[in-house]
Amino acid sequence: MTVSIPFELNGVPVEADASLETRLVDVLREQFKLTGTKEGCGEGECGACMILLDGQPVLSCITAVGAVRGRQVTTIEGLRSTTGFAVLSQALNDAGAVQCGFCTPGTIVTAYALLRDFPMPDEKTIREALAGNLCRCTGYNMIVEAVTLAAQKRGDAW
Ligand code: FES
Ligand code: FES
Repeated sequence: MTVSIPFELNGVPVEADASLETRLVDVLREQFKLTGTKEGCGEGECGACMILLDGQPVLSCITAVGAVRGRQVTTIEGLRSTTGFAVLSQALNDAGAVQCGFCTPGTIVTAYALLRDFPMPDEKTIREALAGNLCRCTGYNMIVEAVTLAAQKRGDAW
């Protein structure tokens, strides 16, 4: 049964028209055309579909849209205008951590939340935070280097 589900999407009040159990990733990509959120595994394993739900990184492929009623959803598009996004994406480029780019939006979402909460994370903390963001291309060292670089350059970005 299709119902109307109100929530805040990238700072704007919206209503999704969907059944409660529809996957959030599908609503974001199909109804709101926010295709920066990727679907890789569809099973909660790869991190490509990461979004922020009330500020916390959450996998949108295993989140039902009914669960976000009245809450705040932020996608990679919502981060794009932030200084944190600019610092992170520059750092990822500088470190050579973007190859095919498929994992990059999810990685940025996770790293953004990490640096917001832990401004100067050590390598172990970075690797743990990004453990749910799989990347087929970079071998991870360049991503860790990029997040370290972003932390050093952060200023008041977060
Ligand atoms: S698509 Fe959601 S975790 Fe892989
Ligand atoms: S850059 Fe290709 S999957 Fe990460």
